[in-house]
Amino acid sequence: MKLIKTVAELRAEIALWKKAGKSIGLVPTMGALHEGHASLIKAAHAENDCVVVSVFVNPTQFGPNEDLDAYPRTLEADCHLAEVMGANVVFAPSPKEMYPSTAMTWVEVTGDVTKVLCGRSRPIHFRGVTTVVSKLFNLAQPDRAYFGQKDAQQVEVLQRMVKDLFFNLELKIMPIVREADGLAKSSRNTYLQPEERAAALVLSRSLKKAQEAFAAGERNGQNLVDLVSRSIASEPMSVIDYVEIYALPELQPVTTPLKGRNLLAVAVKFGTTRLIDNVILEA
Ligand code: PAJ
Repeated sequence: MKLIKTVAELRAEIALWKKAGKSIGLVPTMGALHEGHASLIKAAHAENDCVVVSVFVNPTQFGPNEDLDAYPRTLEADCHLAEVMGANVVFAPSPKEMYPSTAMTWVEVTGDVTKVLCGRSRPIHFRGVTTVVSKLFNLAQPDRAYFGQKDAQQVEVLQRMVKDLFFNLELKIMPIVREADGLAKSSRNTYLQPEERAAALVLSRSLKKAQEAFAAGERNGQNLVDLVSRSIASEPMSVIDYVEIYALPELQPVTTPLKGRNLLAVAVKFGTTRLIDNVILEA
């Protein structure tokens, strides 16, 4: 496994792989790798000849009052996990390497898909994501790129971007990996105090209740939102940012009764830590 820190060195490695006719899988991450990331790397290794894992805490997707400085940085452990899961290269550039000038090119998806849910409380977030992911796609030239359903809105935004910019690659979306007790794995879980960690279980528990109600025939979106909101609010440490339901793809208003695939998504703060989780309800 090679640790590469410069664009020039990554380009040289990719050129060698391309010349040899190798297929390439890309797993973009911000590091502090856990089993959620590991599942993406493992899938990339199973489906491609060569795998690049990028580890880059992307400054342009953090708002001014967000956790850019506090975000965990654990490159040595990340390299170890990436190697064990089958990565050939970890690409860990500096911010200057990815954003060399104060002049800047943005890639931005517009419309509801970036405005609802996390787009409301994090207005510049998705523009930062699409910009850095475009750069990574252009550098790594992957045949397949791997993302997690954990960040469901990110998936919808990237699918729009890939279509609109004719990126010649396949997006592979992997299921949410959870702790044994149900909490979705996240690099931000390390911020949680023990009592917040316990309180955060209310997210997966509440979404499960909605899944059960849906399975039992509930087809009114608002009723499902109310059920989850009430359940989360019953945990005194929770502060709800949103509990919402949208139709997939691209987060459109739901129909009543619900039809097709629908995303029920939540963002909730425990202390200073904001966690997200979601389920897909398919009629
Ligand atoms: P990061 O939060 O590090 O996540 C990297 C990838 O791992 C994302 O596709 C995310 O959905 C996936 N992931 C995280 N937790 C997961 C879990 N519990 N189960 C399954 N997959 C999980 O998402 C980003 O970084 C950034 O926005 C990035 C795409 C790298 C652009 O900077």
